[in-house]
Amino acid sequence: MRFTPSSAAGTFSLFTSNFHLSPIRSFMATASSHSLSSLPAKDLADCGLGTPSRYLSGESRIERAWAHWKKLGEPKMIVAPMVDNSELPFRMLCRKYGAQAAYTPMLHSRIFTESEKYRSEEFTTCKEDRPLFVQFCANDPDTLLKAARRVEPYCDYVDINLGCPQHIARRGNYGAFLMDNLPLIKSLVEKLVFNLNVPVSCKIRIFPDLQDTINYARMLEDAGCSLLAVHGRTRDEKDGKKFRADWSAIRAVKSAVRIPVLANGNIRHIDDAENCLKETGADGVLSAESLLGNPALFAGFRTAEWVLGGEESNEDRTLDQPDLLIEYLMLCEEYPVPWRMIRSHVYKLLGEWFRIHPHIREDFNAQSKLTFEYLYDMVNRLRELGASIPLYMKDSHVRRVSANGIGA
Ligand SMILES: Cc1cc2nc3c(=O)[nH]c(=O)nc-3n(C[C@H](O)[C@H](O)[C@H](O)COP(=O)(O)O)c2cc1C
Repeated sequence: MRFTPSSAAGTFSLFTSNFHLSPIRSFMATASSHSLSSLPAKDLADCGLGTPSRYLSGESRIERAWAHWKKLGEPKMIVAPMVDNSELPFRMLCRKYGAQAAYTPMLHSRIFTESEKYRSEEFTTCKEDRPLFVQFCANDPDTLLKAARRVEPYCDYVDINLGCPQHIARRGNYGAFLMDNLPLIKSLVEKLVFNLNVPVSCKIRIFPDLQDTINYARMLEDAGCSLLAVHGRTRDEKDGKKFRADWSAIRAVKSAVRIPVLANGNIRHIDDAENCLKETGADGVLSAESLLGNPALFAGFRTAEWVLGGEESNEDRTLDQPDLLIEYLMLCEEYPVPWRMIRSHVYKLLGEWFRIHPHIREDFNAQSKLTFEYLYDMVNRLRELGASIPLYMKDSHVRRVSANGIGA
């Protein structure tokens, strides 16, 4: 990531008077109750669609959260936020192959408010790019609101990143490091809920203690959050390959709150997505890392490592990763993005192919300046070398995907 961390000014600690309690329990014990439902009756009477949620009682907010979700078609298969990777052309590619909604990469709220260059490079969208979650990291409610107001007309949720565990997030005091400052999280959510017309969502990580996670989720719901995406790993479980996401914690959150809940973690192919929905009861799933190598994952295609063998697997010669790269590049020509994003997708999509033909990768590495011409030609050279690594599809998914007009 490339932005300058914002300062951690103005944060305050919860641990002074309740140091023996976990952060969320301490917060519950000390926070003064400031619920939306305690607003004057006059304000409640003003409620109606298209007005900020500040005017709604708790019950009406839940109903409205569901009405919004239903209006969006209750998307189940969703592209997770990925810095430098879930940009417009990639989202559009995933949508073509079964994704029903998508998140932008995390945008830095302060830089978004300050820099026209940052805004125009990092946030692009189009009419077909819906439903869309626009995600921000933030630690200042006013700055977050200012940034959110700019994107409100173009999205279906403004999302707050409460899950980034990287060092840059620690230094900048955002993402999962706000889990140490729950009053600040509450104020970020409330600021948006009280002032935006578009619903507010949060993407969280779990606490090591299940009850803390549940209390955290309930606090966010009470603050007016309309949808929760739960990544079933703790802040310290950074390595997704090493730590399996805890679907049982996601299930517990889903049972504990009344707003829509999305599950995140361990979605490597379509069976994972379906099993996750069943096991967690979640309303949708997010996939990140696996989509980068296989943007057609939600349409049922799978890479060789997830083919189970035997009769149920089927080689599908209609689609492979270079095909997907060509489609992605054409989308990039239509919807320009910085070259570093394109470069990153080339590595992710052609990783296996580069392993077979390392000299093509070396030539690619040596290009300080890329062009579309070079990239199309590189794919042709790979094909001419005779490499063939198909994507696969289980028989059971072929009919469904063909019926959608994809991959037929
Ligand atoms: C390249 C990359 C960039 C990511 N950037 C973001 C981000 O901007 N915001 C966010 O909330 N999570 C981000 N994540 C985390 C993912 O959204 C997701 O929570 C995590 O990878 C677990 O999902 P997975 O097991 O399907 O990969 C990123 C992950 C990857 C691989």
